[in-house]
Amino acid sequence: MTEIPTPASALTALNHRHLLGLQTYSAEEIRLILDTAREFRRVLDRPIRRVPTLRGVTVVNLFFEPSTRTRLSFELAEKRLSADTVNFSKSGSSVSKGETLKDTAQNIEAMKIDMCVIRHASPGAPHFLTRCVDAAVINAGDGAHEHPTQALLDMLTMSDHFDAFEGLNVSIIGDITHSRVARSNIHGLTALGANVTLCGPKTLIPVGIEHLGVRVTHRLDEALEGCDVAMALRIQLERQGSSYVPSLREYHERFGITLDHLARHPDLLIMHPGPVNRGVELASEVVDHERAIILSQVTNGVATRMAVLYLLSGLADEATS
Ligand code: CP
Repeated sequence: MTEIPTPASALTALNHRHLLGLQTYSAEEIRLILDTAREFRRVLDRPIRRVPTLRGVTVVNLFFEPSTRTRLSFELAEKRLSADTVNFSKSGSSVSKGETLKDTAQNIEAMKIDMCVIRHASPGAPHFLTRCVDAAVINAGDGAHEHPTQALLDMLTMSDHFDAFEGLNVSIIGDITHSRVARSNIHGLTALGANVTLCGPKTLIPVGIEHLGVRVTHRLDEALEGCDVAMALRIQLERQGSSYVPSLREYHERFGITLDHLARHPDLLIMHPGPVNRGVELASEVVDHERAIILSQVTNGVATRMAVLYLLSGLADEATS
């Protein structure tokens, strides 16, 4: 029997065909995804972690950039839903012979697929893909633009520890300029009523970002005062040639979260999307601390991606029509 989750939110289906970012998703749609993910998490807690929900649905994972967490959790989510999956990576494909994204996608679609998950270094690549193929498109991270499923799994993880998003104080610390995770979390968290503070060096926070409804500070102590969740972002070592920060040692001294910070803020929870640079954005002991919920984020990634795949497959609409 096909098992369809019965979410508690007011909506029963998404108003979108694709998940390109959270900027255009309403609070109700985000709540629907989180409620559905909680239902799928119950499936993952069973001895047999598989349902036939997406049997007959074919999903292609197009990864043009490296990934560990996102790629594996999409693949696992698809398998747990009994979908047929195909994996594509840039290396070893005809992209290295000069084939364009449009031609690559249309050739894959010609083999009859229903959904595309795409990670790409260029912002807007998933949007472009929606104009090339009929399949539903899910953004798994596009340049510095958005990483919506990461923000959704982050919000699911926060909701495991707090009763409501309204009034929740979340500080996002680090390289905001280059972070798709920050952008998606800003859209999602502010839509749900959380207070978002951004903290980092002036070179790594875009001028005027306050218009997204966030507070900005360049002082870590200020960001951690009254904060419920501190989300540290990866300092992108591959960009250090651009001298956004004088040195990683100096960055850690000013913006790295240490055991001292945890002692001064006894209720503070620590999150990080990964991969972590130990000793840079977080002291190594903080990564392993019981108040760091980084691995819970990873666990929640599978259930969140199951929810997104199910809701965009069109089966939720069929179940309620
Ligand atoms: N959080 C995240 O996107 O990690 P990966 O790059 O390993 O997928």
